[in-house]
Amino acid sequence: MADTISNAATNPLAEELHGARHAKPCVLVIFGATGDLTKRKLVPSLMGLAKDGLLPTGFAVVGFARRPWSDQDFQKELAEGVEQFGRSETKKSFDALGDGFYFHQSDFTNREGYLALGKKLDQIDALRGTQGNRVFYLATPPSAYSGILENLAATGLSKAADGCFARIIIEKPFGHDQASAQALNDQVRNAFYERQVFRIDHYLGKETVQNILALRFANGIFEPLWNEKFIDHVQVTVAESIGVGSRGAYFEESGIIRDMLQNHLLQVLTLVAMEPPASLNADAVRDEKVKVLRAIRTFSAREVAASTVRGQYIAAPFGGESVKGYREEDGVSKESGTETFAAVRLQVNNWRWANTPFLLRSGKRLPRRVSEIAITFKRPPHVLFQGSDLQPNVLLLRIQPDEGVSLRFGSKVPGPDLRVRDVRMDFRYGTAFGGESADSYERLLLDSMIGDSTLFARRDEVEEAWRIVDSIVAGWNASKTGPEPYAAGTWGPDSQNQLLGEGRAWRKP
Ligand code: BG6
Repeated sequence: MADTISNAATNPLAEELHGARHAKPCVLVIFGATGDLTKRKLVPSLMGLAKDGLLPTGFAVVGFARRPWSDQDFQKELAEGVEQFGRSETKKSFDALGDGFYFHQSDFTNREGYLALGKKLDQIDALRGTQGNRVFYLATPPSAYSGILENLAATGLSKAADGCFARIIIEKPFGHDQASAQALNDQVRNAFYERQVFRIDHYLGKETVQNILALRFANGIFEPLWNEKFIDHVQVTVAESIGVGSRGAYFEESGIIRDMLQNHLLQVLTLVAMEPPASLNADAVRDEKVKVLRAIRTFSAREVAASTVRGQYIAAPFGGESVKGYREEDGVSKESGTETFAAVRLQVNNWRWANTPFLLRSGKRLPRRVSEIAITFKRPPHVLFQGSDLQPNVLLLRIQPDEGVSLRFGSKVPGPDLRVRDVRMDFRYGTAFGGESADSYERLLLDSMIGDSTLFARRDEVEEAWRIVDSIVAGWNASKTGPEPYAAGTWGPDSQNQLLGEGRAWRKP
């Protein structure tokens, strides 16, 4: 088994993509392993790592859940998942790991179940050379977190033996507001030290999101322009064409602001707006990120009315079918006031960004799935080329699909006239580097096994992000009006244009 899993040296592309970073042997224990995330994302991503030779030689997975499954039932389910959702040829890696997937049936609050898990992990160490190292993954509904944390602490599983490590990865949503996030953080702290904790935000594992730091700090040309003197405004759009599907009941409680803005969009914003860190060390990076959040003021109810727009999709023909409105989705109230679209204008109050607004928007049932960051530069101070319809320069970071970076600038149209037109310089990951790009979970799982928390949210970041979001939600709750309706398949309510200010327009990606 061992040799087939660890063959990094034979895959130069994997080396180039991930660098020569290797994880130590460990067991990954997934709580809530019968859920969708394990089958669709976690195990296919682990097999992607195995394919690239990046899984440690001693490695095993234990699925911890309530269903009465055997190891074989678990393996069968995972095999289907890898086949369906894994990168090409990852099924071979799955077969090579063979019986390295174990199932452990227990209730999340049953102490005995954890004591038995401890024994099982010791046996696995002996059988598979996992050397006493454990990574726990909370993939359950958040209501189960507290029972799991308490039991991990009480049974000593959260403390690693000498020379070994124990870590915990926690899925979003991380709390429902600042108070609940603080309470959860306190519970986490009772069981684990902060350095053992990995709060996952899968957007931070996306290549283009990681590339923000490389683009800004590995090049000499962007950073001198990266401030309010040259940048007019920044737009971050995360649009999805899907509706809430089977997640209606969850979404009713969260809305787009908790589901997307509190985490993915604000995380992206911190990377765009942060000061250069002294090093790429996890805390150096996160210290700078949290300063950005601190520089965003808590909104008053009046500011919420002036700086945010929320919408809710209604039934409309879209993509050749007639799709339901949000209120008709399963698990959603017929009078629901939950927003499925939000646009927010934020100001980062520091010297670098004093007059540059950050405009963030996200929604379901928008015309297409696209995530991008558009940095719009100021116009030249004097217009020489009269009669040309020139738009401002835009540096576009495409997170998905078609990952890449492009720059829009004016160029002379060939011919005798002095006419200038916008053109685009384009870099595409697919063409520049080739190969299949790895799922963001691959990178994040690898980092958690290596012990690098740079791409994970720290306690203070999560709580600061909630402070901002809580103030927006409070303003919405105090308002007499609810979300504005928008037809499925459109870009959301028109009133979002009022957030932009004179002479600016939302991009139509
Ligand atoms: C998740 C949200 O965090 O991100 C989902 O809970 C959303 O509602 C998803 O669909 C979007 O992720 P991606 O990677 O498809 O853009």
